[in-house]
Amino acid sequence: MSKGIVFWPEQASAHAVSVDWLIASFGAMVWLLTLPVFVFMILFVWRYRRTQTVNREHAPTHNMWVELSWSGIPFILTIIFYIWATSLYADLRAAPANPLTINVVAKQWMWKFQHPEGPREINNLHVPAGQPVKLVMTSQDVVHSLYFPALRIKEDVVPGTYTMLWFNANKPGRYPLRCAEFCGADHSTMGGALIVMDGADYTEWLDQRQGEHNNPAPAEQGARLFRQNGCAACHNRSNNAFAPALTGLFGTPVSLSGGAKMIADERYLRRAIMLPNAEVVMGYRPIMPSYANTFDEEQINALIAYLKTDMERHK
Ligand code: CUA
Repeated sequence: MSKGIVFWPEQASAHAVSVDWLIASFGAMVWLLTLPVFVFMILFVWRYRRTQTVNREHAPTHNMWVELSWSGIPFILTIIFYIWATSLYADLRAAPANPLTINVVAKQWMWKFQHPEGPREINNLHVPAGQPVKLVMTSQDVVHSLYFPALRIKEDVVPGTYTMLWFNANKPGRYPLRCAEFCGADHSTMGGALIVMDGADYTEWLDQRQGEHNNPAPAEQGARLFRQNGCAACHNRSNNAFAPALTGLFGTPVSLSGGAKMIADERYLRRAIMLPNAEVVMGYRPIMPSYANTFDEEQINALIAYLKTDMERHK
């Protein structure tokens, strides 16, 4: 399959189309502001060349309207681009409610994905078309960066914390995914494919994977870890003397001792497990031990998946 030289990656989402319009328009503006400079430069070099007898007296030194327009017009244009680009960027930071959340763990040199129903995959990521997908990402070793050229999105994947990406791919197909941060010897091989499927095909794919491997859903695995590690001894609904109950916590604001407020998102919950005394809930003492050496990244993902459920179902 020969496509010749590709200047512009395929567009697999509405966001990709918006980004391309921004880039193309910005390119047009740069031409608009730069081209006249070169045109007049060449014109004047030609007109006032040495052998030419022309009037070389000083021309008028001042023209207010010319000066106002050549500073005012570029200023307004660049401000328009600033607002346009910022609003696109802000969209990337705000995932819609109830996305399909997929966990991503990067390591030298592979991408590990886990779907909420349980199926795992390496380097390939299957997603349904026309549905918001949110990636909650972390790294087991060094900084990586997950890059989807066809979606025009990219985000660093950092050990010790979560970063997020979201997208709504609307065109079924197979698109490249890459690591965009030099992460060691085999960095250039760290990639795979984003496979965008119709909703029904995706469901079928999930069922088939589940039939082959039968991975427990992260929430179920999390419920088991919660039980096995005795979390409920302190975090239970009937007795909140030592620790807050966790049912219904996800996504709600939490008041911390010291007066600050935080939203209990994935990043907050992760810190609460790994560095429990960094942010202590108001009214409680910092007595929870760290589980940093107990759980690996996939187990923390599982615990958080469990905390997102109503928790009762899994008991
Ligand atoms: Cu991972 Cu480059």
